[in-house]
Amino acid sequence: MSKLIAPSVLAADFANLQRDIEMVNNSDADWFHIDVMDGVFVPNISFGMPVISAIKKHAKKTLDVHLMIVNPDQYIPTFKEIGADILTVHYEACTHLHRTLQAIKAEGMKAGVALNPHTPISVLEDVIKNIDMVCIMSVNPGFGGQSFIENTYKKVQQLKNLIAFSEADTLIEIDGGVTDKNANQLIEAGADVLVAGSYVFGAENPTETIANLKSLVN
Ligand code: DX5
Ligand code: ZN
Repeated sequence: MSKLIAPSVLAADFANLQRDIEMVNNSDADWFHIDVMDGVFVPNISFGMPVISAIKKHAKKTLDVHLMIVNPDQYIPTFKEIGADILTVHYEACTHLHRTLQAIKAEGMKAGVALNPHTPISVLEDVIKNIDMVCIMSVNPGFGGQSFIENTYKKVQQLKNLIAFSEADTLIEIDGGVTDKNANQLIEAGADVLVAGSYVFGAENPTETIANLKSLVN
């Protein structure tokens, strides 16, 4: 499978959101990565349902929605209604993770689980077969533009081994501080999907930056 690039809309220009969505539509990017922050699970608030609905109206690619919120269960049907294709919850925010994963799948979405930098891969051993994608946070969630945590490479390898050992069919996504400097090493370690926010939208030519990243890892 080709390696996927998911620009994070958090770093887009919100006053020109339609323009930035069209840029991603017309680029080599594969998905839209959409960060929802509640100011409780993480120390920042991003955007919610009305903004995602507005994005959905223009987006022509998969919506990869990353929930950095407490009690994600109560909003699962709503995220389906507004157009999420993949819904990722945080391990640290789910007391009954297995039930949450079932609820996401019952709505017809792919189910993702994100792990904070301090959370070991081993906590997923008993649910890995139920997870469509694991998102390894390579920064502490809450803000774009932070620097990449080097310990991530080791975690990607550990997750890759767990997936192989369990004969699971789970994608590995990396989120935070991804640039052309770490992309190759992440893919070599076993990553399938790279999220990139400030690296893409902060570039002089975002379309070209996406194309470069895509060709670098494929
Ligand atoms: C961090 C978010 C990331 C963020 C990535 O809490 O989950 O998706 O937007 O942004 P960069 O690529 O700038 O680190
Ligand atoms: Zn994210």
